[in-house]
Amino acid sequence: MAIGRVLFTAGSIARRVGELAAEIRRDYAGRPLTIVGVLQGAVTFVADLREGLGPQVAVEFVEASSYGDGTEPQGPVALGQAGGLDLAGRDVLLVDDIVDTGRTLAAVRSEVEAMGPRSVRTCVLLDKPSRRQIAVPLDYCGFVVGNVFVVGYGLDHAGRYRDLPHIARLELAGR
Ligand code: XMP
Repeated sequence: MAIGRVLFTAGSIARRVGELAAEIRRDYAGRPLTIVGVLQGAVTFVADLREGLGPQVAVEFVEASSYGDGTEPQGPVALGQAGGLDLAGRDVLLVDDIVDTGRTLAAVRSEVEAMGPRSVRTCVLLDKPSRRQIAVPLDYCGFVVGNVFVVGYGLDHAGRYRDLPHIARLELAGR
């Protein structure tokens, strides 16, 4: 396994995140917003997005994992911490690093919907539509990627490569 081609440079990510933040800021126009980020991959994206959003933004995180140390989902999506959130009546923006099969975002969304928010929208940095198993509406999306495993900018493989400033392809034997 090795790092392959750089797909998105640090500069192009920063530009796109700035554009998304501007779009979200316009859409919510001064309404208080609660970001619910999905740990751990979305931490870098949430931090950068938050910077462009201005005041009146609360940030919470939920834990969701189904990948373990592999590159394929391993069993049901396990959610942690969501029970401690109070999202009733809030405008919620779910933020994840990447949507692949859609199982994680769908699971987090249904958990959040059950808390009675005023509205729920979704924002992902990367969309991998070729792998989708569950349809999930994406309101804001940074980039579309093909059927490749990507790392960097918060995305990891078995805990590695998260700190790369760019997003690169991970070369897997046989894929
Ligand atoms: P699902 O399949 O539930 O996946 O939509 C969402 C979660 O899976 C992880 N994921 C990846 N992580 N490179 C990664 O580093 C990838 O190419 C990749 N594809 C999916 C990620 O944690 C995401 O939240």
